[in-house]
Amino acid sequence: MLKNRSIISIEDLSSGDITELFSVADSMLENLEKGKSLNIMSGRILATLFFEPSTRTRLSFESAMHRLGGSVISMADSKTSSASKGETLADTVRIVESYSDIIVIRHPLEGAARLASKFSSKPVINAGDGSGEHPTQTLIDLYTIKKETGSLKNKTITVVGDLKYGRTVHSLLFALSRYGANVNLVSPEGLKLPDYIYNEIKGKIDIKQTDDLGQFLSDTDVLYVTRIQKERFADKNEYQKLIGSYKITASEASKLKPGAIILHPLPRVDEISPEVDTLPCAKYFRQAFYGVPIRMALISMIAGE
Ligand code: NCD
Repeated sequence: MLKNRSIISIEDLSSGDITELFSVADSMLENLEKGKSLNIMSGRILATLFFEPSTRTRLSFESAMHRLGGSVISMADSKTSSASKGETLADTVRIVESYSDIIVIRHPLEGAARLASKFSSKPVINAGDGSGEHPTQTLIDLYTIKKETGSLKNKTITVVGDLKYGRTVHSLLFALSRYGANVNLVSPEGLKLPDYIYNEIKGKIDIKQTDDLGQFLSDTDVLYVTRIQKERFADKNEYQKLIGSYKITASEASKLKPGAIILHPLPRVDEISPEVDTLPCAKYFRQAFYGVPIRMALISMIAGE
């Protein structure tokens, strides 16, 4: 039961919670595909508090709440809120919880969503805390793998790009360690997965680590591509050296195992060339679409009647 629970880390959800959520998401998806509107969240308010840029996450949460018949209040930009006058996060959250029934927060600092949940009697959902976690993106990623490959079990998943700062990767790897995956971690030396995550998952799944993508393509069921997280670099010259480290072209895609899929949490910069978009293995736009049924399921289970 997710009722009234905050979701800060993917570890806050049991495998049973995830299974239940996916079955609710299936029925949300069916309604969406039939064009049927729901009003199970009528009279309820979702607040989105975004201290960092977002397109998909904020808009799909808002779309999900509207599709459920609820309302949304939104702080899309910290520059136009009292945060720019020096208000603390604790005070902002104390106020917003009194205006809403559920809060979705994105913040540049790791731990900010956890802190926000301490000052709120209403459930808080972490929509990305710095280089920490992004648990609802992981729900979308897992759901996409299940829908587009048939199952979550025993997949070979190659994760490529910025494994140091990429919060979607962090949550995804915690989750995959429950499903018996083989994981290949591919990144430049300076962007390797942080030790605290590696040490947590290493006993649970098979992991290989390298900077060379080519060797894994023919064994890969799911190629999970990520953006180098420019905004996390203190030294922009370092970013300039690493941008372009990996580029998935149609030629790379053709080397994948038959039936493999390519995912990306988006936005992409140059790590997947546009020629890949029309290949049957390119599932990243479908993945972004699944954000709506997944978030409809999550909102209704946490804050519905
Ligand atoms: C990701 C994020 O914000 O961490 N985007 C998203 O929510 N889909 C990935 C990224 O920004 O690279």
